[in-house]
Amino acid sequence: MTNILCIGAGYVGGPTMAVIAKHCPEHRVVVVDINAAKIAAWNSDRLPIYEPGLEEVVRLARGRNLVFSTEINRNIAEADIIFVSVNTPTKTFGQGAGKAADLQYWEKTARQILENSTTPKVVVEKSTLPVRTAQAMERILDCNNKSLHFDVVSNPEFLAEGTAIKDMENPDRVLIGGRGTPSGQKAVQAIVDIYAHWVPHERIITTNLWSSELSKLAANAFLAQRISSINAMSALCEKTEADITEVARAIGTDSRIGPRFLRASVGFGGSCFKKDILNLVYLCEYYGLYEAAAYWEQVVKMNEYQEARFVSNMVSAMFNTVAGKRIALFGAAFKANTSDIRESPALAVCRTLLEERAQVVITDPYALDNARDDLGDAAEQVVFEPDPYAAAEDAHAVAVLTEWPQFAELDYEAIYKSMVKPAFIFDGRNILDHEKLYALGFNVYAVGKPPLTNFSN
Ligand code: NAD
Ligand code: UGA
Repeated sequence: MTNILCIGAGYVGGPTMAVIAKHCPEHRVVVVDINAAKIAAWNSDRLPIYEPGLEEVVRLARGRNLVFSTEINRNIAEADIIFVSVNTPTKTFGQGAGKAADLQYWEKTARQILENSTTPKVVVEKSTLPVRTAQAMERILDCNNKSLHFDVVSNPEFLAEGTAIKDMENPDRVLIGGRGTPSGQKAVQAIVDIYAHWVPHERIITTNLWSSELSKLAANAFLAQRISSINAMSALCEKTEADITEVARAIGTDSRIGPRFLRASVGFGGSCFKKDILNLVYLCEYYGLYEAAAYWEQVVKMNEYQEARFVSNMVSAMFNTVAGKRIALFGAAFKANTSDIRESPALAVCRTLLEERAQVVITDPYALDNARDDLGDAAEQVVFEPDPYAAAEDAHAVAVLTEWPQFAELDYEAIYKSMVKPAFIFDGRNILDHEKLYALGFNVYAVGKPPLTNFSN
């Protein structure tokens, strides 16, 4: 039996360890966190995050070989392998503020591991980190007078929220980076052996430490870049009567480009794309690679432009004023199938509409509580309404901001009837049947498509 510990019971730590515990019944998997309420939730019937399929996996392994605990020090002492999955947000102060990764939680964890260890351990970077963080980690861990040896391995996580369990069960690849020394290679093999319980060998890639760390930042940068690229095209489509869905299909059928991640939208959200790209930008600047830094920074700027452009289109379509108008926002989560609202474009749109003095109503199947918390004082000016029909009643406009499939299945005839006329619909995710809405009487504005308006002049 191997004692596996994960420090950090968040969106990554919880689901990844639940899947490892499911497939490795002979190992003991403990997940710890400083947040006692979160651990209590992991131990309850109401898990702290919503992920399709998560409950089933947790129910299967919890109490068998999966444990959620707040006892960090004791569990460090007992562990053979420690995954570190704490948050690595953008630094808000000092050198690199607004771009660099804030590594204070990371360093604290390294020191805590050192203090509580009496046996050698493999320490696994699961969090997304700047390239060469493992070196700093090694230097801290090696600075001990206990003659203890630690091997640092990088095993970045590629799961996407909303499909976390599916992605873990059937990953495109698992990436494991380590030192070329015999001890480093033994540590890499220990991590390979865990994943080999269910991941085919050809999908387990091993590299050196730095390639592994950098590949995680590179993957997120490339994914986000595709969205910014298609969104830049969507702006041009709106000026030229080209249709972004047709353009995406036309370019995506080129096997070199491929069809995925070409959905034009109100913008990408989520806790990682922006943070990780800015981290990459900072690294490029740190090494004096200013052109490379500017290239990647533009991906984030384009995303901010797309969000701002979406609201500005709303205001100008609605006769240049939304003050006092009820506007129903369909969606608060940053994407479908998650309750996560971090960096959600829906909340950015909400904040701008509040500045324009609109009366904002938000509906979302799972993310309303998180949205309320995130909006802080501004939440007082917002109505949170779980029922989309009630949210749209007496509204001047509906804006679809999260691609929840259920929003496409609503009875828009009933919604149209309950709204103030002329009724506007802004589809920030291009998930609705625009022709049908237009036929019902809506004035329809989608991303990257010519508007469909029922005005006679
Ligand atoms: P999260 O905020 O959901 O979870 C992090 C957890 O770590 C929190 O519960 C926090 O209380 C805990 N924590 C912080 N310091 C601690 C300490 N010293 N001891 C114990 N617990 C501590 O974050 P997340 O979304 O799970 O992301 C974690 C890392 O994984 C980040 O680096 C992120 O970039 C990366 N990542 C996230 C995703 C994703 O989809 N969310 C995907 C891939 C990679
Ligand atoms: C993303 C990556 O897809 C994961 O591989 C990575 O592990 C993770 O970041 C991370 O490091 O945190 P995630 O942010 O959970 O996962 O979700 P995505 O599916 O990538 O969507 C991100 C945002 O882009 C969402 O707001 C989504 O609506 C938007 N999006 C996505 C588009 O606007 N268009 C698309 O074509 C695809």
